Amino acid sequence: MTGGPRAALVTGATRGIGRTVARRLAQEGYDLTLTGRDPAALAEAAAELGGLGRRVEVASADMAAEHDVRRVAQVHRAAFGRLDALVLSAGVGSSAPLGGYPLKRFDKQFTVNVRAPFTLIDECIDLLRATAKEVPLSGTKIIAISSITASAPEPGLAAYGASKAALIALCEAVNTEASADGVTATAICPGYVDTDMSAWMHDRIPPAEMITTGDLAELVLALTRMSAHAVVPQIPVVRAGSQLWRA
Ligand SMILES: NC(=O)c1ccc[n+]([C@@H]2O[C@H](COP(=O)([O-])OP(=O)(O)OC[C@H]3O[C@@H](n4cnc5c(N)ncnc54)[C@H](OP(=O)(O)O)[C@@H]3O)[C@@H](O)[C@H]2O)c1
Repeated sequence: MTGGPRAALVTGATRGIGRTVARRLAQEGYDLTLTGRDPAALAEAAAELGGLGRRVEVASADMAAEHDVRRVAQVHRAAFGRLDALVLSAGVGSSAPLGGYPLKRFDKQFTVNVRAPFTLIDECIDLLRATAKEVPLSGTKIIAISSITASAPEPGLAAYGASKAALIALCEAVNTEASADGVTATAICPGYVDTDMSAWMHDRIPPAEMITTGDLAELVLALTRMSAHAVVPQIPVVRAGSQLWRA
């Protein structure tokens, strides 16, 4: 691995939380690999972030397809040869009540929200460890966007919440395997964030009352600035209001 700028790989970088996190990382001097399914949105994101003076690679990929997931890691490794932050933001949610819940939707959520992050971590762990050796003070970070519904369930979101709980468990397990080598993992667990994904809630929660993507980007940055000695397994983030543990 050569020296030079830090490098991050961000999934779900075409829109929403991932896009804002990628922008903040670029502003902090990170080179980036961006991924999502939509090639036009990726090209547009790359043009914007490249305009901030950073090197930006794109890898169009469907997180439901294993070979796509593995290819993203390979593209990043070939481009940068180091990985300081792996941000796992790509995710899907599908609300429906129990009693005939379509298992196809369950499978899709577990594939994109759990299997893809697991595969990507598995594919990237050697590079994360190697980079951590080069930057022992900060180490390297895995930051996954889970959900408050993993611990504060919502009706209709049983499959989604279960997939996000699995993502927390994955981050915690990574810490037991890799934190002694300088690779730490954190699951950020927000309530409703103002993005496309939460648009279906606008009749009940105005976007102005939702968490902002910028709030989460600030947490990601704070994690990247922490030393390798500290492990932050989870960060719950809830909306302001009289009921604390809710989406
Ligand atoms: N918004 C909320 O209220 C909220 C709350 C808690 C947790 N979260 C979690 O936060 C993460 C980001 O959500 P968001 O709010 O930013 O949602 P969003 O605005 O809908 O963006 C979702 C991102 O994930 C990507 N994505 C979705 N399915 C994909 C697939 N099969 N393959 C590759 N990329 C895929 C999308 O890119 P393409 O469409 O280009 O593929 C997009 O970049 C998700 O994991 C979500 O579960 C969101």
